[in-house]
Amino acid sequence: MTQRDLIQRLPKAELHLHIEGSFEPELMMQLAARNKIDLRFKTLDEAKAAYNFSNLQEFLDLYYEGMQVLRTEEDFHDLTWAYLQRAAADNVRHVEMFFDPQAHTARGVPFGAVTEGILAALARGEKELGISGYLIMSFLRHLSEEDGFDLLKVSEPWHDKFIGVGLDSSEMGHPPLKFERLYKRCEALGFKLCMHAGEEGPPQYVREALLDIGVDRIDHGNRSMEDPALIEILRDTQTPLTNCPLSNLSLCVIHDLKDSPVKAQLEAGLMVTVNSDDPAYFGGYVGRNYEQVSQALGLSDAQIIQLARNSFEASFLPGVSKKRHLAAIDAVTH
Ligand code: HPA
Ligand code: ZN
Repeated sequence: MTQRDLIQRLPKAELHLHIEGSFEPELMMQLAARNKIDLRFKTLDEAKAAYNFSNLQEFLDLYYEGMQVLRTEEDFHDLTWAYLQRAAADNVRHVEMFFDPQAHTARGVPFGAVTEGILAALARGEKELGISGYLIMSFLRHLSEEDGFDLLKVSEPWHDKFIGVGLDSSEMGHPPLKFERLYKRCEALGFKLCMHAGEEGPPQYVREALLDIGVDRIDHGNRSMEDPALIEILRDTQTPLTNCPLSNLSLCVIHDLKDSPVKAQLEAGLMVTVNSDDPAYFGGYVGRNYEQVSQALGLSDAQIIQLARNSFEASFLPGVSKKRHLAAIDAVTH
């Protein structure tokens, strides 16, 4: 079996995916027309030409601009459904999906329209594609902790629909401890805790997320590799890191895929996973992330299989479901 076939055939979970970051320019233009909204980009080529970032903030500016055309429950359904079909084609069997409600409610889109649209598509994905899906509500870290508490209140009727909470957007200058009280509250409410940390921010941000806040998972975590004592803690606690190779490359977190930390993290015994982050913006869904990072780093088949196993181990699925998916991996590889 070629490595490409192996990657394709392995059942995988995707644990770091912003649904608004799966907004392909084709669908964006369709929804702009449907909602009678003028987009700055008049052609597909124009839109794609803008996808040339040199840091996180440049990407975020375009990401928030693109999502302006998402207005109705149907829009959020269509966005999510398009992602799920694409994920199914890569043999993704389970997804834990971030969404950014504050980016929509700030524009007057009701929280319920956003959430119900996504949930309807997730239910359909389970039924028609056999993909299970969990939703993770993300707070925007460039906003205040008070704004986060407001979101927690507005979202109350749907709390049982979310497996956890996340923290994303501009990292520098917005450390985990800015949200300490909010995360304490979320923990008390029984949410799993995720946080983007160490994408652009220093290892200290990963330490805060892990040691002060007590998160269950670190999103990205690249810069942990600058801190040997932190690497040891990550290994001893088996705290999952959701790495996103093509995102790292697009946002200049790394300058070549050969500089991806995935191989070093595997070899250090860390619970690293491979994910797409914002696949419409960064040039590839999860399968392509596996392929490209493997090619650049010369990963072995055993390391590819380890990444697929880690994706389920690091998920928030119950133990019986993890076992079932791991057995399906064994069936492909034995
Ligand atoms: N980092 C921070 N915020 C984000 C990202 C990311 O990679 N994607 C979408 N929002
Ligand atoms: Zn992300």
